Amino acid sequence: MPLLASLLLAPAQVVLDPSGIAMPMFDAERRFHENVARSRWSANTMEYVDGVSSSVLRHPYTIAHAAASELFVASFTLNHVVRLRWIDGKRAQYKVFVKGRDLDGPVGMALDHAGSLFIASFTNDVVLRVNASDGALLDRIGDEESLDCPEGLALSPDGRLFVASFLLPHLSVFDPQSGAFLGRFGALAPQPAQAAPRPAPSLAGAEDVAFDSEGAVHVSAYYSSAVYKFDAQSGALLAVYGQGLVSGPVGIACDPSSGDMFVSSYRDDKVLRFTPGGAFVGVAAGADVSPDGEAGAAQAELRARRQRRGATIRSPSGLSFDPHDGTLWVASYATGAVTRFNSSAWGGGRTWRVTD
Ligand SMILES: *[C@@H]1O[C@H](CO)[C@@H](O)[C@H](O)[C@H]1NC(C)=O
Ligand SMILES: *[C@@H]1O[C@H](CO)[C@@H](O)[C@H](O)[C@H]1NC(C)=O
Repeated sequence: MPLLASLLLAPAQVVLDPSGIAMPMFDAERRFHENVARSRWSANTMEYVDGVSSSVLRHPYTIAHAAASELFVASFTLNHVVRLRWIDGKRAQYKVFVKGRDLDGPVGMALDHAGSLFIASFTNDVVLRVNASDGALLDRIGDEESLDCPEGLALSPDGRLFVASFLLPHLSVFDPQSGAFLGRFGALAPQPAQAAPRPAPSLAGAEDVAFDSEGAVHVSAYYSSAVYKFDAQSGALLAVYGQGLVSGPVGIACDPSSGDMFVSSYRDDKVLRFTPGGAFVGVAAGADVSPDGEAGAAQAELRARRQRRGATIRSPSGLSFDPHDGTLWVASYATGAVTRFNSSAWGGGRTWRVTD
């Protein structure tokens, strides 16, 4: 995404000293001072408090469901994972769940059945495994060889950990318990010329990974503005979809009730819905929802209603379906909002309803 790209490309941050002379402060030096200043690992030390705001959820990247009405949200620029507890309607409490110098740019998260939370740490090329109940740091998975700015991650139905790196054109697969690197996955194999008249565009800027209900792997690629679908066993490319529809895809999630894939289109503030085969179903949420070609006036009214409810999503990043009630949660990277959509109100392609 643009922010990440600018972080990566900027060789130095320029600071103004009191004399007004611009002085470059090199990233490594800045990071050294930050690391010294930051505690090594801090887990779960605060009680839940009121007052969730964009100062706590700044640049939320991904969402994971801890329990009914409880979420983990990774805040990219504040380098922490927050645990939110929804009380009712708009009211939520939070605590900073984990932070520390091992966590530098948290992005993707996944929970396993044994109570571990996996968190991709973008800047230092590692995936952390922490205890999802007390936040204790249990393991560091991957290194600069196997990962390069890791973002999305997901556990496959057969229990392997798939990690997408923003700067790699393939996924990296690990054993989540031992941390062993199992290999690269989904590198686009050269295809026979006659079988592939148009070579598939390469996977650039991998953001997020999700398994569909058949077990195939879907990877959103920001710079390709497309989603790649792979066979989870062989790694064969099955489909590339979303071109011309998604603009800077970031989050991707499979709706367990319909099996459809939902993709956040970061650059134009929408969430789009596709069949697992990649056929476009419609705009699921966002700037100009037009469920079934409603007339302009009806659409304008719908938009106004959504805006009054504060429902507009901005630069959507992470998407997650709540396993407890099927609602879809969308993180807005730009504003810090986390918005919940009622999935059963989508039936028949009518409108989306924001419940919080
Ligand atoms: C997490 O910590 C609790 C105690 O706080 C322990 O009972 C549990 O087994 C731990 N889980 C993992 C996955 O380490
Ligand atoms: C979603 O909407 C349906 C119909 O409007 C309603 O019956 C259901 O309770 C809602 N679900 C949630 C989780 O709010």
